[in-house]
Amino acid sequence: SSSYDAHFKVWRGDAGSGALEDFTVRVNDGEVVLDIIHRLQATQAPDLAVRWNCKAGKCGSCSAEVNGRPQLLCMTRMSLFDPGETVTVTPMRTFPVVRDLVTDVSHNYRKAREIPSFVPPEGVGPGEYRMRQEDVERSQEFRKCIECFLCQNVCHVIRDHEENKEAFAGPRFLMRIAELDMHPLDDAASQGVDRARSAQEEHGLGYCNITKCCTDVCPENIKITDNSLIPMKERVADRKYDPLVWLGSRIRRR
Ligand code: SF4
Ligand code: F3S
Ligand code: FES
Repeated sequence: SSSYDAHFKVWRGDAGSGALEDFTVRVNDGEVVLDIIHRLQATQAPDLAVRWNCKAGKCGSCSAEVNGRPQLLCMTRMSLFDPGETVTVTPMRTFPVVRDLVTDVSHNYRKAREIPSFVPPEGVGPGEYRMRQEDVERSQEFRKCIECFLCQNVCHVIRDHEENKEAFAGPRFLMRIAELDMHPLDDAASQGVDRARSAQEEHGLGYCNITKCCTDVCPENIKITDNSLIPMKERVADRKYDPLVWLGSRIRRR
């Protein structure tokens, strides 16, 4: 029911170097952290760089870290913080800084391109797909992803381990492989693509030890670990103990 002056620390810098900068800034009722960053731009730091588009938690652009916690700046309410508390805003740690709060997330686009897309079954055109409702719903949960990359940022496999980035696709993209592998109409096998095997052998599923930090930060509340990573691990295990399962599933389809 009132305004107050908050103490903020915001990381300023570029790929070469940077440091936290102190600000005292007005906060009004109902505001989110992105409002405060915008007020800093308007009043004290016109060159402060931040990426955003929708201010509604839907574009996935404003990912950063608030008091060390990966969050969407536009969905983090100032009412979460005590008025006397210092609020520290830093860029995502796992990706290279471009400037201030803006990181270069192209690592994720590279990972996306490594996954072969959906292969429709032969002779079935768009509009002719028939699926059970539970298969539709499973896909729809994964499709809620807004590609904020907070899950990619938080996962300890690459968070402080640059050397693992090549071998590990990360939760968002292992989830994409799981979605396609569980899709009843995906016929990637006809192109020689074994999605379960590639999850394990090319995309580093084995690095995931189910810490669930990815699930905890997902702004869409997708159950990444329980609904995609663990089932994918089970599918890989089935395949491993019975290599004929994959071959059999291909033959049955013909
Ligand atoms: Fe963001 Fe969730 Fe998608 Fe990960 S799965 S990129 S946390 S919306
Ligand atoms: Fe990483 Fe999520 Fe697995 S945080 S270790 S991908 S459960
Ligand atoms: Fe779009 Fe925050 S500005 S998700």
